[in-house]
Amino acid sequence: MIRIPSVVVVVVLFLFGLSVSTSASRDYIRLPSEASRFFGTGDGGVHDNDDGTAGTRWAVLIAGSNGYWNYRHQADICHAYQLLRQGGLKDENIIVFMYDDIALNEENPRPGVIINSPHGSDVYQGVPKDYTGEDVTVGNFFAVILGNRTALTGGSGKVVDSGPNDHIFIYYSDHGGPGVLGMPTNPYLYAGDLIEVLKKKHASGTYKSLVFYLEACESGSIFEGLLPEGLNIYATTASNAEESSWGTYCPGEIPSPPPEYETCLGDLYSVAWMEDSDIHNLQTETLRQQYELVKTRTANDNSAYGSHVMQYGDIGLGKNNLDLYLGTNPANENYTFVEENFLRPHTKSATNQRDADLVHFWDKFLKAPEGSPRKVEAQKQFFEAMAHRMHIDESVKHIGKLLFGIRKGPEVLNIVRPVGEPLVEDWDCLKTLVRSFETHCGSLSQYGMKHMRSFANICNAGIVKEQMAEASAQACVRVPSGPWSSLQKGFSA
Ligand SMILES: *[C@@H]1O[C@H](CO)[C@@H](O)[C@H](O)[C@H]1NC(C)=O
Ligand SMILES: *[C@@H]1O[C@H](CO)[C@@H](O)[C@H](O)[C@H]1NC(C)=O
Repeated sequence: MIRIPSVVVVVVLFLFGLSVSTSASRDYIRLPSEASRFFGTGDGGVHDNDDGTAGTRWAVLIAGSNGYWNYRHQADICHAYQLLRQGGLKDENIIVFMYDDIALNEENPRPGVIINSPHGSDVYQGVPKDYTGEDVTVGNFFAVILGNRTALTGGSGKVVDSGPNDHIFIYYSDHGGPGVLGMPTNPYLYAGDLIEVLKKKHASGTYKSLVFYLEACESGSIFEGLLPEGLNIYATTASNAEESSWGTYCPGEIPSPPPEYETCLGDLYSVAWMEDSDIHNLQTETLRQQYELVKTRTANDNSAYGSHVMQYGDIGLGKNNLDLYLGTNPANENYTFVEENFLRPHTKSATNQRDADLVHFWDKFLKAPEGSPRKVEAQKQFFEAMAHRMHIDESVKHIGKLLFGIRKGPEVLNIVRPVGEPLVEDWDCLKTLVRSFETHCGSLSQYGMKHMRSFANICNAGIVKEQMAEASAQACVRVPSGPWSSLQKGFSA
């Protein structure tokens, strides 16, 4: 049996740009503020409509991944559910999408329990299983937002059955790439389609305002140059259009998960907005204030281990109180939001979302007893993930050179359009080229989403399906029958 000397692991991690940093722990102070007496206490209703009518709060929560190494996305979603319930939203108005393979996963050290922070309590208890397993699809997600029951396949049948005075909150946590968000099923979600759905929802006149919180790598690209003003939609994203977002509470970080956890427990932007919302009277905190605070925390002192939180759409909605979307926990009535009662964390730590799977396999490897089948398995998983990455990276590079020449290839693939411009005009072209690639080179998988900008640039350069198919066939003469099938999640329908 082969044993990986840990120095090799470290070198390999280094070569692949795996980034883990450590830091001091952070703390919040909860100051009962004098200001609280100027604010009323929540009773669950929505009072902030200009015309004085009350609306209903709706929420759609979706974790777009599966697999234990992606523990954190479903943990984020479960946490959000608890937050909304404590805020006073009813189950009938909260629609949850999660693969639901974490709580009872054999890797989970606390069966039936999911936590979202090192000392956090269970967030899994009571979470409705509206859309789980293979029912977590792009089609169902869109049907739920649009309130179209006939378009559903499987699931609880719960949809956003909203009216003109209602407020909708959508929170998505997963892997992503330029112009695309992950799903535990095929196909993945393309930004162009999501924007069309949001426009359609607006045209149906079935909400007053909609807030979209999005955690994913390159999540800014989902709205950048795509989400127009005037739809009464306010969106914030964990990162700008060109950078990774970050997992947090990962093994090896400080604070780290309890030692028996070999996985990240949360994501940086996600825990930032939720841990803030958990402790405040949300009638006293606006979207804008939360955006600023989350931006600061997620930037991680502008270190290499942070990202730029962005806002898109009708920025003016940022003046609304969070309570309008999230409700507010009556127990927090005396915790008024004032800038000063948020003690800014000094140093923090985070793991690049794209490396969180490697962190899991690595930590599993390190902790497994010498010579155990578990150690062998972890080693295999680690190297398979690496092999898949190399195959995808090399194939895309090779295709660029075949299409545009050795020198110009990398240049074209790496073009970044100016801020405010969408990734691509022709989304059908993008989908078609991705399909061509996957036909010849195998599934892009979660990791491969990082190459979406290259595919978009190939479209923007006017390459058509046939040319792409030919280049892909040439670049991937032999599709490795990868044993990394457990990591494989294709894009193509
Ligand atoms: C609902 O979905 C069905 C099936 O996809 C579609 O035919 C119908 O037009 C949709 N209804 C609305 C109001 O969009
Ligand atoms: C908030 O403060 C008031 C006044 O001190 C007190 O009566 C009330 O019980 C407090 N609310 C909570 C939830 O602790």
